[in-house]
Amino acid sequence: MPTTANRNIELARRTLAARPSEVRKVFRAAQRPGMISFANGAPYLGALDFEQLAESSQRILRESGSIALQYGAGQGTLELRQHICRLMALEGIRAAPEDVIVTCGSQQALDLASKVLINPGDVVFAEAPSYAGGMAVFTGLEAEIVHVPTDENGLIPEELEARIAKVRAAGKTAKALYTIPNFHNPGGMNLSPERRALVGQLCTENGLLIFEDNPYGLLGFEGQTMRAIQPDFQDITLYFGSFSKMFAPGLRIGWVVAPERLREHLVNANETTVLNPSVLSQMILTEYLDTPGWKSTLEEYRALYAAKCDVLVDALSQNMPAGTTWTRPEGGFYLWVTVPEGIDTDALVYECIERGVVYVPGTAFFTDGSGHDKLRFSFCLPTHEEIRKGAAIVGEVFSQALTGTGAR
Ligand SMILES: Cc1ncc(COP(=O)(O)O)c(C=O)c1O
Repeated sequence: MPTTANRNIELARRTLAARPSEVRKVFRAAQRPGMISFANGAPYLGALDFEQLAESSQRILRESGSIALQYGAGQGTLELRQHICRLMALEGIRAAPEDVIVTCGSQQALDLASKVLINPGDVVFAEAPSYAGGMAVFTGLEAEIVHVPTDENGLIPEELEARIAKVRAAGKTAKALYTIPNFHNPGGMNLSPERRALVGQLCTENGLLIFEDNPYGLLGFEGQTMRAIQPDFQDITLYFGSFSKMFAPGLRIGWVVAPERLREHLVNANETTVLNPSVLSQMILTEYLDTPGWKSTLEEYRALYAAKCDVLVDALSQNMPAGTTWTRPEGGFYLWVTVPEGIDTDALVYECIERGVVYVPGTAFFTDGSGHDKLRFSFCLPTHEEIRKGAAIVGEVFSQALTGTGAR
């Protein structure tokens, strides 16, 4: 029998560096039948017109099956890249199709950009809190994450500046800032326009790349969109987009726009990893975006999520113990909660799961062990009734923990 030490030797260093997240247990629980899930950042697909999608998929296969099911270009189809450029123009990005690299979701785009750019030991700055899947990519490549404090206007530039100085004084390489400027996952907030300018300036002065991750940008409840960071800092910004949240994650289509000097490396890395993203998925998306109907689906999503967010806010006001606070998002999927001292969201999630409701504990969104007094609620999937019921259960479990009357 190999010893534990031997088993560790057979694993690559980066595999050992990757921390398997406890949160996977939480997501497994979310799959259980009947579970009220505040855990999944998954769109409410009930808003899609499946009949129309079925017709369009059939047409694609009938008329162009030998293209749809064939290997394709590593950079993605021209038609989809043209649509992506039109979408990005809504956020002030002026890109040409040749600037866009289509990937299997933005997760894969983050992964390939990181493979191309990040060395072991490099420091990546990330908001405190930040998207667990993004941070897993960086730590998996043996990068060090340094969290930057945030408030209701996103990451705080002065805090970033102080941390860059500290990292440099320690002789480390400050490589990139990873930021989710719109309807943050998990914080729900936006990076204010003033701060976008300051942050871009700081990164420029300090030789940092910006990884601008923006899957939620078109999901403002009022249809509001913010100017991206990329147009003002093109030379240092890699912009990541996705169709997962605004349409359907099952197609697994995202993209990255990078400074020209990096593009060929990214296309090569894409080809090395997946050869090409699914041509069928890209053709379905292209047809979808060819028809004006996609705009009304997006509007329907926005209205649905705005209403669900209101229901959750109302339910939290009624059920959470005194001293609990939460963000008030203006779009996206997430509401970020801070609980009073005496409640450990990590420990109590299992009791909530036993009682039929699951959320993501705050610790999932930090790499420094903090977050026990935080949690993320996704309001996108549960029904209004489930939201009310789920919030009541979580409120009761937390209140009992504070008064010492809960199940131990
Ligand atoms: C901030 C952020 N980035 C990237 C992703 C990955 O999305 P996908 O790979 O489905 O495009 C997610 C998914 O939850 C996310 O929240």
